[in-house]
This record gives sequence, C-alpha cells and structure tokens, in this order.
Amino acid sequence: MSIGRNKITIVGSGNVGATAAHWAVTRELGDVVLVDIVEGVPQGKGLDLYEATPVVGSDCKILGTNNYQDTKDSDVVVITAGSPRKPGMSRDDLLNINTKIVKAVTEQVVKYSPNCILIVVSNPLDAMTWVAKEVSGFSKNRVLGMAGVLDTARFRTFIAEATSTSVEDIQTLVLGGHGDDMVPFPRLTTVGGIPLEELLSKDKIQALVARARSGGAEIVNHLKTGSAFYAPGASVIQMVEAILKDKKRILPCACYLEGEYGLKGIYLGVPAKLGARGVEKVIEFKLTADEKQALEKSASSVKDLIQRIQL
Ligand code: NAI
Ligand code: 2OP
Repeated sequence: MSIGRNKITIVGSGNVGATAAHWAVTRELGDVVLVDIVEGVPQGKGLDLYEATPVVGSDCKILGTNNYQDTKDSDVVVITAGSPRKPGMSRDDLLNINTKIVKAVTEQVVKYSPNCILIVVSNPLDAMTWVAKEVSGFSKNRVLGMAGVLDTARFRTFIAEATSTSVEDIQTLVLGGHGDDMVPFPRLTTVGGIPLEELLSKDKIQALVARARSGGAEIVNHLKTGSAFYAPGASVIQMVEAILKDKKRILPCACYLEGEYGLKGIYLGVPAKLGARGVEKVIEFKLTADEKQALEKSASSVKDLIQRIQL
C-alpha cells in the first residue's frame, strides 16, 4: 500500500462490499483492501476492480485477501460481512448468524487497525453496530452504522419521482432503527426549499412514506436471492468520504446514544455530524409528539434485539 493515501478496508466482498469498493475507487478515496472468508472471491473481485482503474482514471490500489494482516493500519473499516436477507426473512432473523460473524470480524479488524473508524452495514444494523462497539471497545464516535443514508435516499428517490423534480433538490430525513418501524420525516422534507406538504396531498405523502419504509423488502422481493446493494454501497461510501475528507456533513447514521432524544445504551439512526473523528456530534432537534412516539417505538424494537444478543 502506498504511503500517504487513505486506507479503506471493506470486510465482506459480496454484493454490498464489492459495490462499496467500486464506489470508493471511482471516487478515488484511497487504497482499498477487500477481505472475505471465502478464498478467491476477494482476490478475483479486487484484481478485476484494480484493472478498471486505468479506464476510470483512479490512482487507487485494490487488494483482495483472506488475511487480516493486509488490513493493517486502515483509516476506515466497513463491515458488510454476513448473510443477506432472503424473501420472507426479516432483518431480525439475521440476528444470531450475523452476531457471530460481526464479532469475529471486529476482533480481527481491531487487532490490526486499533485506530480505525468502524462503519457497520451488516443486518440487523443497529444491533450489529452495538456488537461492533462492544467487541472493539472503541469510543462511541469511532463506531457507527449505515442505514439512514440509504433509507433517506430511497425516500428522496420516490419523492423526486412523485414531484417530477431532481433527486438533488430533495432534502429529507429518515431516522430510527433500520427496521419496519423506521421514522421518515415528511414535516422536514423540502423540494428545492419548498415544504413537501405544499406540493403533494397527505395521502400521496403517506404512500411515499410507506414505500420508503418497505424499500428494502421491495428489492428483496424482486431479487429473490438476496437484498439491495447498489444504493447501500453508495450510501456507506458517502459516509466514508465525509469522514476521510473531514467534511462535517450532517447525515443520518446509527449512533450510540447516551441520553440524546431521551434514549440510552442503544444504537439508533439520528442526525450526526461526520468528520475526521467519526461521529463528531449527534444533532438533536425538537420532535412533535407523534414523531417522538414513533422514534421511541423504533428504539424499543432495537432495544429488544440488543437484549437478545449473546456475545
Ligand atoms: P452477500 O452475501 O453478497 O455478501 C456477504 C459476504 O460476507 C459474503 O461474500 C460472505 O462470504 C462474507 N462473509 C461471511 N462471513 C464472513 C466472515 N466471517 N468474514 C468475512 N467475510 C464473511 O451479502 P450482501 O448483499 O453484501 O449483504 C451483506 C450484509 O449487509 C447483510 O447482512 C445485509 O443484510 C446487510 N445490508 C445492510 C444494509 C443496510 O442498510 N445497513 C443494506 C444492504 C445490506
Ligand atoms: C435494505 O434495506 C436489506 O437492509 C437492507 O435493503
């Protein structure tokens, strides 16, 4: 690996991991190490992606490996290792399988990159991020989870389509756990600065909210053998970029809460300022009574899951 470039490790070279690597290299964010338990897959995908760099004009090195020594001194590590959702399976069904995987991966990652920032993607997301924090012993700013960027991106896509406007002009927020009771915020949604509630009827907005909530399942039902990966890969790399470039972006991320929004000891999707130190601040704002109730319901689903984890 070259001195001076950022080093990004992506654990899991499946659909999300390989797609994330692709986005990272396209955006020239740093050298990428792709790790997997399966022999040959990270090596093959890594080399193939490396050979794309002259075409896309990206001076990044990509290494595929089964050996964590190659991940040494990574700046950011993204964990996508695990089993994806199959049709009829909830994210929560993955709890036991993925706890073991995320625990084993985190142990290896921290051994070689004790100063990295860890971003978890594996599901059930909020619970797996909690596992990574427990196992790593890292401070809360250095362990976060990706879900809100994806859920918000889905909501933005559907709003742009419904209003025949550019996706770029849609500002919105989806908070809470990455589950069926995630909390989209139509009240805070604007299209080029104009409140969405002035552009679409309540019923139409509610239909978009429902579609955003079941956005993951919609893709699973199409694919049948796995879950979404293009939008998840792009979403996690937006977070990596915000950290590596110290952008101070405000993005919805799964963060460890210690009293914010009246919640403690769990990971939950909240607005976070992302910069070189990882989660530099959890941003709190005033919720309506309904929003507060919805966030608490979502938090209680996450809490139930965390209580079932046996490390
Ligand atoms: P995938 O099956 O395509 O890839 C998973 C990879 O993890 C496989 O290559 C597998 O060999 C590897 N793996 C399994 N155990 C491992 C271990 N101990 N060490 C290293 N690698 C290991 O699955 P996909 O589609 O990439 O999804 C990955 C995870 O991300 C799933 O848990 C999925 O539910 C989750 N996900 C989360 C999203 C979110 O918004 N947070 C969005 C999309 C997926
Ligand atoms: C998604 O939302 C499966 O969590 C994944 O697509």
